[in-house]
Amino acid sequence: MATIAAPSWSIEPVGPLQGDVTVRGSKNAVTKHMVAAVMGESPSTIRNCPQIGDIEITAEMLRSLGCLVDVEGETVVVEPNGIDGGRVPLSYGGLNRIPILLVGPLLHRMGEVFVPLVGGDRIGSRPLDFHVSSLEAMGAEVRMTPDGLEAKALGLRGARIRLPFPSVGATETVLLTAVLAEGRTVVENSAVEPEVIELALFLQRMGARIELRPDRRFVIEGVDRLRGAEHRLDGDRIEAFSYLVAGLVTGGRVRVHGCAQGRLVTAISTLHRMGARFEITDDWLAVSAGQLRTAVVQTDAHPGFMTDWQPPLVVLFSQCEGMSVVHETVYEDRFPYVGALQKMGAEIELFDACLGGRDCRFNESTAMHSAVVRGPSHLRGAEITVPDIRGGFGYVIAAAAAEGPSLLHDVHHLERGYHRPLEAFAQLGLHISREGPPAPS
Ligand code: EPU
Repeated sequence: MATIAAPSWSIEPVGPLQGDVTVRGSKNAVTKHMVAAVMGESPSTIRNCPQIGDIEITAEMLRSLGCLVDVEGETVVVEPNGIDGGRVPLSYGGLNRIPILLVGPLLHRMGEVFVPLVGGDRIGSRPLDFHVSSLEAMGAEVRMTPDGLEAKALGLRGARIRLPFPSVGATETVLLTAVLAEGRTVVENSAVEPEVIELALFLQRMGARIELRPDRRFVIEGVDRLRGAEHRLDGDRIEAFSYLVAGLVTGGRVRVHGCAQGRLVTAISTLHRMGARFEITDDWLAVSAGQLRTAVVQTDAHPGFMTDWQPPLVVLFSQCEGMSVVHETVYEDRFPYVGALQKMGAEIELFDACLGGRDCRFNESTAMHSAVVRGPSHLRGAEITVPDIRGGFGYVIAAAAAEGPSLLHDVHHLERGYHRPLEAFAQLGLHISREGPPAPS
């Protein structure tokens, strides 16, 4: 069988990026809403959806189970009544994180489930132990096989669960399973990322009984049935931050529409500390650089500084005068992308110690999870391969700030999660030429 070459982007820097970008709903919310919709007794409609590869992958996965999924412009409609199978085909293995989230909803519908191994970015070991032990606590029998995960349950029941770390995906697994389980589920140390809250609100609209109590505790009373619901997604805070930083890195000014200030609080306060100048209205946020200062930043669960904001921030640090530090506490292996930045001329050194903050779970491991960045560096264009979605965006803005052209391979990682990125960059004045198979439509 002929293999289709992965797409690549050529980037010719043009100086400061200036202009407006509108972001749509977030990648990390839309697919979870599609999974929730599987449990409704009527269709669900999700609006303000981005045009990204992850929606296509998830839509195909749901269709393979018998759902009707209609993706039309910015609207996705999921009609789950035709579901007639609980086996997600192996061909959907390794593409994104969604299969594991389908386990609870499919158990409710079919009693027996197979999902292939999950994929997503290679940014750490990303085990599924919290998902598995939560499903087991709620009465599922789970078996890991070399190909994926098999589960069965005669009836799921509420449970008291404490997550060892506030995992986004494991919290979502518990929410998506507990809403139709019999009785009460209490989940402590939950993730409370805006995308998780958005999913909980969508489930509430479907008829679920969910409360968020203090101290990261969700309490869910199982109900007998859920109906379809409608929701307009809130703006993608990762994209919003990434484009704002694209402006700062190149000494320009970017105005982002479509993402509320409240979703960017820690990003704004961090950039403020560095000397960035914000203008914020109900409709947009704009940022421009004064004399930017260095900073010490630690990534963390919400409301901490998001791990997905980390790669653009590192590129920004490479343009600030002096030494900055990033301590990555969410993933143990989120710095492989820095090799290419070093090749472009950035001065970045990695450490296995917990630098610039409290000790984290990776203290005393050999994981290189702290970075010291010395700037400003004169970046040179390069030919590089994108390792993951957020590192990839870091490369684009580094290429925009560099001297000379760059060629980025494997940009399908970016196209899985950014809404029409070439158009967005063109609006900022950066024209990127693309080669390869068609982009997500
Ligand atoms: N973890 C475990 N065991 C588990 C689950 C998680 O040890 O069973 C660990 C992970 O290895 C990691 C930490 O817990 O060290 C946090 O992982 P989490 O479960 O929160 O991540 P996720 O749900 O797999 C989502 C986003 C990520 C984002 C993280 C953290 C999606 C599809 N992905 O991943 O987004 O970084 O939450 O906010 O929602 C991205 O968009 O680029 C991306 C990687």
